[in-house]
Parts: sequence; C-alpha cells; structure tokens
Amino acid sequence: MDPAARHRRRRAILHDLEPGADDFLTAVTEGLSRAEKALPHRFLYDARGSALFDRITRLTEYYPTRTEIGILREQAGEIAERLGPHVQLVELGSGSSVKVRILLDALDQPHAYVPVDISREHLAGAAQAIQDDYPELQVEAIAADFAQPFELPARGAGRRVAFYPGSSVGNFPPAEAEAFLRLWAKRLGPRALMLIGVDLPKGAEVLEPAYDDAQGVTAAFSLNLLARANRELGADFDLAAFRHEARWIEAEGRVAIHLRSLADQAVTVGRNRFALREGERIHVEDSWKYGLEDFRRLASAAGYRSLDVWTDAGGLFSVHLLEVDA
Ligand code: AVI
Repeated sequence: MDPAARHRRRRAILHDLEPGADDFLTAVTEGLSRAEKALPHRFLYDARGSALFDRITRLTEYYPTRTEIGILREQAGEIAERLGPHVQLVELGSGSSVKVRILLDALDQPHAYVPVDISREHLAGAAQAIQDDYPELQVEAIAADFAQPFELPARGAGRRVAFYPGSSVGNFPPAEAEAFLRLWAKRLGPRALMLIGVDLPKGAEVLEPAYDDAQGVTAAFSLNLLARANRELGADFDLAAFRHEARWIEAEGRVAIHLRSLADQAVTVGRNRFALREGERIHVEDSWKYGLEDFRRLASAAGYRSLDVWTDAGGLFSVHLLEVDA
C-alpha cells in the first residue's frame, strides 16, 4: 500500500469484550479425575494448535475445507441472491476470514462485516485485512466468547446474516449444538439468516484418515493439548507415551478422537498425580456429522426454518441456509 493510501486507510472497529478467564488447570484436573478421562477440546486452539489446524485444512485427507470452499465458489451467485442486498454479515469464529471473501465478492453491496472470534490478535489483523480490501464495507470486529452475553451492532437496510463455516458446529455434542444455535437465533433476531457449513456422514475409509493423516499433523494437533499442559501448567506428560486415535462411530454419527496411553504411567499436573493404565484413553475431541434431514431437525428444534441447502457433487459436505423463526 502506498503511503498516501495508508494515510487514508479506514480503520476496522474492534470491540474487545475480554472473555472471562477460562481456567486450564481446573479443566485439566477435572477431566483427568473422571472415570473416563477427557480433556476439553476448546483448549486445542492456542497459537501452536491454531497453526497446526491451519495445516490440517490443507491436508489431502482433510476434505472439508476445500469441499466447502468449492461449494461456496460454485453457488456464490445463488447464495448472494438468497441473502439479498446491503446485508450485515456476522461471521462466527472468523479465524483468518478466507471463506467470507467468496461471499463478499458475490454479495450485492454488503453493508457490514462483523467477525466474532475469541482470539483478539488473530481477529484484529484479519478484520483490518478485510477493511483494506473492501473499503466501502463497515468492518466491526467483536473479540468475545460466542457464549458470552453481547449485542450485535445495529444492521443497515439489508438482512442480518450469520456465517458459520467449517462444520465447527460438529465439535459440540448435539444437545450443546442445539443450545448454541438457539442462543444465536435470539442474538440474531427474527428473520435473520444463518449460512452454516455442516459435514456429512460417510464411510470410515474417508473419515478416519481425515482425522488421522499420514503425515501425523492431526496427531500433533491432539498431542499439543498435552504439550500445552506441559508448557503452561508445568505438567510432565511424555508425548511419546501416547498415540492419537480417530474412530468413526457410525451409530452415533461422530468421529471420536482419543489419546491412548502406550504404557502404565503416572502424570503430574499441578498438585495432582494421575495414573494411566496401558491402553487407557483420554478423550480429546468429537466431530459430529449430520445427514441433511438430521441437521434440519436440529436447526428446527433450535428455532430456525430451513430455506435451502447446497452440497458438492461427491456428497461430502453441506451448506445450509436457515432463517430464524419470527
Ligand atoms: C474445527 N473443526 C470443525 C475440525 C473438525 O473437522 O471437526 C477440528 C479438527 N480436529 C481434527 N481435525 C480437524
């Protein structure tokens, strides 16, 4: 950017709501004290975890990102028509705001872009990059935990549209996903729209490599949870003594991800010592998959009407358009 342009540069607005402290030590201690050990997946995304997830999205085995981008590119014109002119686009968990550009390029004079993300640093940079590339757009970022109470900026003449790509809704158990969607229906208001990416169920031969790739990037992503406990809590997890495992449980519709202990061992976290038997597993994440009808049912229970859905030719991934019930 030339110096004169930099001088005229419009600044993206950033509302920093300072999400309440989430206590990692308490969460790890509680999770390892359970009969079936578990670590909360929300702690996967520190700086290293986010960088590893970025690599996951580019893996050959991990089809969701490129497939969703393909659907958005192919259907951008039709989606833009359904959303209408002058929309206020609210992105949930915007990360680096790549997919939203496909929409912004197709939309008729979008009024505002409101990325909402818990990671303030990431958000500020991504919001300003969008502001620089779309100078007419009002960019108003909100650094907050989705579940925190906050209000969205007033919308313009067009509709309010939430954009929640990536099938991140699948990392909540269904009851929590429903509660989450209900909370957003209330926040968005009657007749607002939600464009949401949802991964479809498919065979284990596709799903298991997608969550356990040949290069071991997904394994490093899971193991980073233990590494993070070592870094931040002074824990003494021996990373080599755990194996990442991903299993598609068809009857439940989820890929379950665990770290399996390869030996009888003990781990110290804070003042507590936890024994693990050889073969014992620590649950780290689930990725729930929904057939088209199953997801419509979930959305309906959460207060939305289903308006449309787009999928890829291979039937791997879906993008639903929902409307908040009046
Ligand atoms: C962010 N989320 C939608 C990813 C998924 O596919 O469930 C998280 C992930 N974990 C391992 N690989 C990808």
